[in-house]
Amino acid sequence: MNVWVYDSDDKLNEAGAGIISGIVQTNPRAVLGLATGGTPVGIYKQLVGDFERGMFSFRGVTTFNLDEYVGLPENHPESYRAYMNEHLFRHIDLPSGQAHIPDGNAPDLEAECRRYDERIEDAGQLDLQLLGLGHNGHIGFNEPAHALIKGTHVVDLAEETRKANARFFPSLDEVPRQALTMGVGTILKSKTILLVVKGADKADIVRRALQGPITTDCPASLLQTHPHLVVLLDRAAAEKLS
Ligand code: PGA
Repeated sequence: MNVWVYDSDDKLNEAGAGIISGIVQTNPRAVLGLATGGTPVGIYKQLVGDFERGMFSFRGVTTFNLDEYVGLPENHPESYRAYMNEHLFRHIDLPSGQAHIPDGNAPDLEAECRRYDERIEDAGQLDLQLLGLGHNGHIGFNEPAHALIKGTHVVDLAEETRKANARFFPSLDEVPRQALTMGVGTILKSKTILLVVKGADKADIVRRALQGPITTDCPASLLQTHPHLVVLLDRAAAEKLS
């Protein structure tokens, strides 16, 4: 695992965007796994700036997002489709048919999960998966559990996760209780994993994820087994690492 620690948010975002754009420059038909949440916003902003400066094109790229809430209308401002449109998709030349997000409003959610996995399989697996880290060690919405699920599935969100995400909603009551998430098996099959974590409130979980025992109680700890894991941290998130 390669761990890089940054004193400046700008440098961290530049590094993250540079890894993603490097993959697209090397392979214009790259398959990217994308994430939402507060953490990647600066990386997407940097990526959009680099795209506008003509450094690369997303025309041949295919993307798969990690997750989506169940039951939020697609145009709801907090749906992950809306997030991706706002922060990345509407600014770049990625054809809309190549930008995949699980459909949390599908009439048959189990069938939607299978369809999503088939799409990823057809695309030939992910070249890069971008990940944030939940306070409880979740990746995507793979919450701590006795056993983790390999493929895309419906998940009941942990109360801690709903509370963490309540900052984006008018009240906790409006945070959805379920989501669709890519499974840990798919994430671990990605050729490269880019884990990005910021903030002192994540320092404990960063230590557990990267230096603690590998356990399904902390899904991110499974990333320790990945041969190409790149971790970008700000100084505060890194402060408890030995
Ligand atoms: P955040 O979420 O980037 O909003 O902190 C990370 C996560 O829960 O995976």
